[in-house]
This record gives sequence, structure tokens and C-alpha cells, in this order.
Amino acid sequence: MADDIRQRIDDLVERGLLDQWYAVAKSVQVKPGRPHAVKALGRNLVLWRDRGGALKCLEDYCPHRGAPLSRGEVLGDDIACRYHGVRLDGTGTIVRVPAMPDCALEGRRPVESFPVAESSDAIFVYFAASPHSRPQPLVLPAEFTEPQWTSILCVSPWSCNYRYALDNLADPMHGSYLHANSFTLAFGAKQDQMRIERTALGFVVTRVEQQGENFDWTEMVTETAAPYCRLDIPYPAAAGPGGPFRIIGFTTPVDEGNCLVFFWRMRQVTGLPREVWRFLYRATLEARHWHVLEQDREMLINMPRDARKREMLYQHDLGVARIRQSLVNKAKAQLAAQDAAATRNAG
Ligand code: FES
Ligand SMILES: [Fe+2]
Repeated sequence: MADDIRQRIDDLVERGLLDQWYAVAKSVQVKPGRPHAVKALGRNLVLWRDRGGALKCLEDYCPHRGAPLSRGEVLGDDIACRYHGVRLDGTGTIVRVPAMPDCALEGRRPVESFPVAESSDAIFVYFAASPHSRPQPLVLPAEFTEPQWTSILCVSPWSCNYRYALDNLADPMHGSYLHANSFTLAFGAKQDQMRIERTALGFVVTRVEQQGENFDWTEMVTETAAPYCRLDIPYPAAAGPGGPFRIIGFTTPVDEGNCLVFFWRMRQVTGLPREVWRFLYRATLEARHWHVLEQDREMLINMPRDARKREMLYQHDLGVARIRQSLVNKAKAQLAAQDAAATRNAG
């Protein structure tokens, strides 16, 4: 592979693949009547809700002189810039320039709008490789809609590239070491082999000798426009009803040195046990889980940005190698499609 192609692939993977949906905020962060700024994939965005509660998402940029729209105000279904009042609708079209009657800017559409969706307490935005292309379907984990599951979403900003968070999730072995002294991850053998099994939409990396003891497997769902991972953590009886504790994780690149991690913490409980679980979770378990997540975060943010150049992978890193390969394959396909479109347009 030529060096410049390799570099383009690496740059695209590092910034975050396009033509994908990414979780960008918790639903509760976007309150009625108030714009909310987020950054993802290196883009500054503004989110707001129209009068019916539906989400709108634009580049956080006023086309008049560049003020952030997120410092403006929501007017009906639209957003108005605080600086001189220019008003845009959810498509990025200027609908009014209040300081100037019959201004020629009205009706123009200079600001990029982003498809946006909401599910299971989170907001997802689609980042297209070319603006205005049709978004791929947003296919979310079945647990989000199956009624037997109850979930609690936690979101955390990590000051590391998102690839470190993905590598961490594709690496079940770290549970027995990094989290060895935690409430739920203190069990099981400290030596094992790993194996990989294909699934319909990705792969599972799993410990060979140990199941049901610890964080023993992760499923990486990669072949979708909204990739995520799934893993189970066996629970001691003291943690109440509902069987293993399931985690669904999404990772969002913010920029090259920062990401957001979204973890849905789930159990299969309904009715009264559901309320007991939610209470127990908030009262005692949540702090412990934050502690575990902090162990991950602290380790990852203190690794060098270019650790990849000096690492020495071994058998346990099968999942790490596989998730990286999947990102490279997708980046290759994306760049090939872009190049083909550029050639068509030039021809
Ligand atoms: S910069 Fe937004 S209205 Fe002037
Ligand atoms: Fe971890």
C-alpha cells in the first residue's frame, strides 16, 4: 500500500469514520427552548428542540459573521443568532434577517444540517461523508426496545482518542488486572487464551477457559452505521434480581485527542424488581461503576498518543487487532467511494 494511501486511511480512522451515526449527548441535556452545543468528529454543532420536541441539528455557526448559534435563542421551531438576530430553520436555511427588511440572504441555505435521532435517553447524529447524502439506517441494539430490559445511561468525556476506548472494550483480559480489586470484577483466573468468533454484524472476542465469572467476552458490532459493543458482567447475588449486568457501549470521537463514551447499564428486570434495581443502582452501585470506569479512563488518558508505534501485541490482543482491522477496512471503502465520486465529478 502506498504511503500516502496508508496515511489517508490512518487520518480518517483517527478523526472518526463518516457515514455513521454517533451518540453526541444525553436527551436530558437538550432542554426545550434552549440551544445546546456539542462537538463531535471535529465539528461544532448546535442542537435544539422544535415546538413539538423534535430535535434539530446544525453546524454551530451563524452564516452572517460566524457567531456560535448555540449562544442564540430558540424561537418557535427555529434558532436565532444572538449577535444580530439572523434566524435559521432546522434545514440550515436563513428564514429572517430582522435588522434588514427584504434582505437577500433570506431563503439561502448556507449552514449544514445533520440528521438527528433520539433513543434510550441519548441523541444520535449522522455524519455524512458528503453533505446531503441520504443517511444509512440507524439500527440500535435490540435491548433498547425489548421491554424486559431497563437501562441507565452514563456518559463520560475521556481525553484520549476514541480508538483507545475501542481497543479497551475489545480487550476482556484487562478486567482481571486493571479492575481486579473492584466489586464485580475481582473473580476468575488471571491467565487465559482468547478466541474470536464471527457474528452476523461483527465479532465476539472471548476468553477460552472462563465464562460467566468476569468480563469474559465482548461482542463488537461493527458492520452497521452505528457501531457499538456489548458485554456482560456477572453479578453477585447481593446486587439484586436481573441476572448479569449488561453493558452496551458507544464511542464517539470528539476530536483527535478526545472522545465521549456512552455506556448503557442494563438488567432484565420489570415491575417492582425494576424499581428495586434502579433504586439500588442509584444508591450503591453507580458509584462503584464510576470507579471502574475511572480506572479505564485514567489508564487510557495517560498512555502516549502514539503508543501504537511501540506496542508489542500478544495472543490476548486478538480483539484489539480485529477492531483496528475493521476500522481500516471501513476507511478504505470510504476513501475509495470518495475518490470514485471525485473522478465522476471531474469527468
Ligand atoms: S453573526 Fe449571527 S447575526 Fe450576525
Ligand atoms: Fe475496563
